[in-house]
Amino acid sequence: MKVLFHLPQTDASAWLHGLALALPGAELREWQPGDDAPADFAIVWKPPRELLAARAGLRAIFNLGAGVDAILALEREHPGTLPKDAPLVRLEDSGMAQQMSEYVMHAVLRYQRRFDEYGLAQARREWHGLAPHPRDTFTVGVLGVGVLGAQVARAVASLGVPVRGFSRSAKQLDGIDTYAGELHGAQFDAFLDGVKVLVNLLPATPDTIDALNARTFSKLARGAYLVNVARGTHVVDRDLLDALAGGTLSAATLDVFRDEPLAAEHPFWREPRITITPHCSALTLRDEAIAQIADKIAALSRGETVSGVVDTERGY
Ligand code: NAP
Ligand code: GLV
Repeated sequence: MKVLFHLPQTDASAWLHGLALALPGAELREWQPGDDAPADFAIVWKPPRELLAARAGLRAIFNLGAGVDAILALEREHPGTLPKDAPLVRLEDSGMAQQMSEYVMHAVLRYQRRFDEYGLAQARREWHGLAPHPRDTFTVGVLGVGVLGAQVARAVASLGVPVRGFSRSAKQLDGIDTYAGELHGAQFDAFLDGVKVLVNLLPATPDTIDALNARTFSKLARGAYLVNVARGTHVVDRDLLDALAGGTLSAATLDVFRDEPLAAEHPFWREPRITITPHCSALTLRDEAIAQIADKIAALSRGETVSGVVDTERGY
């Protein structure tokens, strides 16, 4: 079995070592420009077009992350890049849900207990207590309750705040008020109504791009908070800055941006109400990812189906 590996800006040796242990007998190689030799499986993150296009023998492509927007954008730009019969399989949780839950709970508590305001007061050397936002009305809305969003919603609910979830298809999640539909319909507006913290965990697809816009912000409780841990293309940057300036939103925590790394001159850096982290809310964990992918390669090799196969039409 021939396995092609590509993870930009990473020393591949630990990955190749781990894969060799998990896939005994496999011929593993890190992709190099010009390599167009056959492979059975490709394990990749943000692959260049020539890695995939016309790769003979490919039986499946494993994406080293949950989001497949980069690969699908490549396919939209250059139709036919993805081999027709090889499924594209993404990581499912693989240790990311725990990290995402920690990140989001930190942001929710920071806003509910007003630690961000204490930080500003400290800079002014001011000593005064602030009443926390009442928990029972500090409603958190999780946009996208798939593999990660559902676990994040449950984790946030354990803080004792009301939690809502929104997805395309109807869901039942214990302790979460769920809403389903399109991102423009009445159900979406009902989901947003009164939400104090909007957490975005949607995939980036043609339907979800720009979903975090002036209209969306205007439907939330006045002075709400935004936590974006999904993709930067979900946010209309100008609308976010205007919403913060006008008081529609109080603050935002952003882990992802339209262009990464965020350019030094981007106005987000100068907005004190925006907290920036460098796309680190849920990292791909090597051992967990290798174990999940190796299990799926074994299942496919036995002729079984696997979960996590991307619907390329739907975009996630
Ligand atoms: P997932 O399991 O595919 O869940 C996606 C959720 O979004 C599902 O609930 C889906 O609804 C919903 N959805 C999709 N399109 C929608 C639409 N047009 N309207 C309403 N709801 C829609 O994905 P996941 O594994 O939870 O990951 C979510 C995203 O997190 C990834 O795509 C990635 O961009 C991002 N992410 C970021 C980081 C980071 O470090 N910042 C790390 C990992 C992942 P249905 O359930 O009805 O299909
Ligand atoms: C990271 O952003 C991922 O999609 O896994």
